[in-house]
Amino acid sequence: MRAEQLILGIPDYPAPGIIFRDIMPLLADGPALRATVDALIAPFLGTFDVIAGLEARGFLLASAAAYSTGVGLLPIRKAGKLPRPAASVGYELEYGVAEVEAHNDVPAGSRVLLIDDVLATGGTLEAARELLELLGYTVSGTAVLFEIDGMGGRAVVADPHLHTVFTSG
Ligand code: PRP
Repeated sequence: MRAEQLILGIPDYPAPGIIFRDIMPLLADGPALRATVDALIAPFLGTFDVIAGLEARGFLLASAAAYSTGVGLLPIRKAGKLPRPAASVGYELEYGVAEVEAHNDVPAGSRVLLIDDVLATGGTLEAARELLELLGYTVSGTAVLFEIDGMGGRAVVADPHLHTVFTSG
């Protein structure tokens, strides 16, 4: 898919040795954005009641996917940004530690499709998946735009329905 060429690898950002995957050129291209969002959700159509997206770039893909399928959006935020008491799960990043938080604004038992832009170590996605379960939801699938191969993320995410559109080779 042409969209794959629009994901840039930026060396040594945000720290030496890290290759940052920059999806902004892909977001800026209308046909590529549409094709990418369609490819993210294709395996899961009919299996979810709501879409969860991870701050910050996961929000962009998740909101497009929610609009396109007519379901609600459950934003999963980094710690300290939600105004009401929230459920929280901590995790380790490639470059630091972090926490994800969300409110229970959709009914318990809802089937949730979880979306993010990049899978590296898997810590972020697995924490988000655990957070959704903590809130009483069923994760019906996990969809990520770009999987960085060789970082073990796929083994960390405890979802047999993990789907990634592009993989670094
Ligand atoms: C990036 C990316 C994923 C996460 C993947 O987020 O958007 O959420 O890292 O890394 P992992 O698989 O090793 O956990 P980042 O922390 O850069 O946040 P941002 O989207 O807010 O920039």
